[in-house]
Amino acid sequence: MLSALRPIQRQAFKTSLRPLLLTHLKPSSSIVYRPLATMSASAKTSKSYPLNVTGLSIPAIGLGTWQSSPGEVGKAVEAALRAGYRHIDTAFGYRNEKEVGEGIRASGVPREEIWLTTKLDNPWHKRVKEGLEKSLENLGVEYVDLFLVHWPASIDPDKEGANEGKGEVYGDWDYIDTWKEMQKLVDTGKVKAIGVSNFGIKNLERLLNDPSCKIVPAVNQIELHPGNPSPKLVAYNTSKGIHSSGYSPLGSSDSPLYTNDTVKSIAESKGKTPQQVLLAWGVQKGWSVLPKSVTESRIKANRDLDGWELTDEEVKKIDAIPDRFKVCGDDWLPIKVFFGDDE
Ligand SMILES: NC(=O)c1ccc[n+]([C@@H]2O[C@H](COP(=O)([O-])OP(=O)(O)OC[C@H]3O[C@@H](n4cnc5c(N)ncnc54)[C@H](OP(=O)(O)O)[C@@H]3O)[C@@H](O)[C@H]2O)c1
Repeated sequence: MLSALRPIQRQAFKTSLRPLLLTHLKPSSSIVYRPLATMSASAKTSKSYPLNVTGLSIPAIGLGTWQSSPGEVGKAVEAALRAGYRHIDTAFGYRNEKEVGEGIRASGVPREEIWLTTKLDNPWHKRVKEGLEKSLENLGVEYVDLFLVHWPASIDPDKEGANEGKGEVYGDWDYIDTWKEMQKLVDTGKVKAIGVSNFGIKNLERLLNDPSCKIVPAVNQIELHPGNPSPKLVAYNTSKGIHSSGYSPLGSSDSPLYTNDTVKSIAESKGKTPQQVLLAWGVQKGWSVLPKSVTESRIKANRDLDGWELTDEEVKKIDAIPDRFKVCGDDWLPIKVFFGDDE
């Protein structure tokens, strides 16, 4: 069956990334191209961002599935795909991959039309291949488009609390070793691209400068909303040819951004919702956004982003929102992964 899949494209090697230009992405006749990010800026739903992998681009809007409960997440995935989403973000750690796979199949949308991301959980860092196999089995798919190291935290699964993310990190293994194993996946046909998540500049710098790092991560999935805009980290990612994918783009559950005066007044003046304004801001800033919802009307509204755009002035006003908050810190982990140097 694997031979029926599109050939897996080789992820750009470090040496070919200076600078990363689209002309470096050499086409092959067997590649099915997704639309590139060259559409009108107001056509956000058909927008996708080219990655540092030959022929691959990631759709700008994906459905998030963290904290989407059993019994709800499959229906949400199905509703999203029926509404036109072509990008689903999940993780082994969300404990819902099986139902996400069921939602994909129930939608009737062909697998090859969907961008599917999942993530290696922290206690699986010494078992990268097995971690991928487990996710593929859960999802009921033969490959994922993007496989991410969920956190730069290599947790020993044999220590107490490991499955809650706590526990202890290994003494003889860290994310550099994990990335060595991730790189081996590229030739298996089971991942189209590999990347990282929750890597700040310090950890990325260490990874990219390590002699064992032959493949630059295609994506760094990080928290991005006006309360945590991380301009230095986004600029760093871009400078290395790494696409930034924005998680918690709405500010997550009980978001304070919905009542933020700047967001509200821009939304009112445009006849849009605060959520739509937040998502448009992310896409216009140049990153993919991963809004989560299990509510069909919201899933549809979150993708109703075409035919209008924020002006440069409106983008700048949102950039200037001073209030900072983080949805995902690192205090639940046994090691620090954020160092406050990404702003
Ligand atoms: N890599 C990582 O470590 C990491 C960390 C966090 C998140 N993520 C990814 O990013 C995704 C999104 O982040 P998130 O789940 O933290 O938060 P989010 O997408 O910023 O916000 C989700 C919350 O907003 C609500 N919501 C969605 N659309 C709405 C609308 N139109 N109007 C009003 N409320 C709305 C949802 O409620 P309902 O669902 O009840 O509609 C939910 O409570 C995750 O699901 C996950 O896939 C990755």
